[in-house]
Amino acid sequence: MSLIEHLRWRYATKKFNPTKKVGAGELEILKEAIRLAATSYGLQPFKVAVIDDALLKAELRKAAYNQSQISDCSHLFVFSHFTALNPQFIDDYIQLCAEKREQDHDLLKGYGNFMKTTLGNFNEQELHNWSSKQAYIGMTNLLMACAELRIDACPIEGFEAEKFNEILDLNPMDLSACVIVSIGYRASDDPDQFMKKVRLPKSDLFI
Ligand SMILES: Cc1cc2nc3c(=O)[nH]c(=O)nc-3n(C[C@H](O)[C@H](O)[C@H](O)COP(=O)(O)O)c2cc1C
Repeated sequence: MSLIEHLRWRYATKKFNPTKKVGAGELEILKEAIRLAATSYGLQPFKVAVIDDALLKAELRKAAYNQSQISDCSHLFVFSHFTALNPQFIDDYIQLCAEKREQDHDLLKGYGNFMKTTLGNFNEQELHNWSSKQAYIGMTNLLMACAELRIDACPIEGFEAEKFNEILDLNPMDLSACVIVSIGYRASDDPDQFMKKVRLPKSDLFI
């Protein structure tokens, strides 16, 4: 199957079968797809919580306008972006680059300083915009990997980030929830699976 066929297969699942669980092996593939996402400077300024605890999902559902996908899915991926950028994080990344590529750490220091200066100039909102955009790239990789594995998924922005932050205790880690993805298997009577895709024609989308 080609990538395009996978993308045509997938849809934003509204009703999950709550009894069907995604297996541990497949979960690892999905995590790897997120890990391999391209990000600005390669910094990956986000974290992902993978939640399958029923009570926790039920609590989060209340903070997501009661959307059933939150509690009926197999696993809930909560993408949280950095709300602060500790210079140590960049130092650690440079160290990782040096180790992985067997490069001289001192040669990479200039690149680290460049990132520190550029990102250090961001105000709170700019950092929020930049780091949450990176999280969305991870989300897209997750959606594509799910489609390839024939795992259903629903990307969700309809939730109260502050409540999620509180429930998951994200703020003390300088994180804030920005987008979530419910994954699992569709209910056989989810009407959305039978709906035609609605997309702009290429002539409108491309200029
Ligand atoms: C960032 C993002 C946020 C979304 N938020 C929600 C949501 O809160 N609830 C929901 O049911 N669907 C949500 N969707 C699903 C979209 O409505 C859906 O992807 C779009 O209508 C295209 O349909 P398709 O994904 O089935 O092709 C979201 C999609 C994206 C990419």
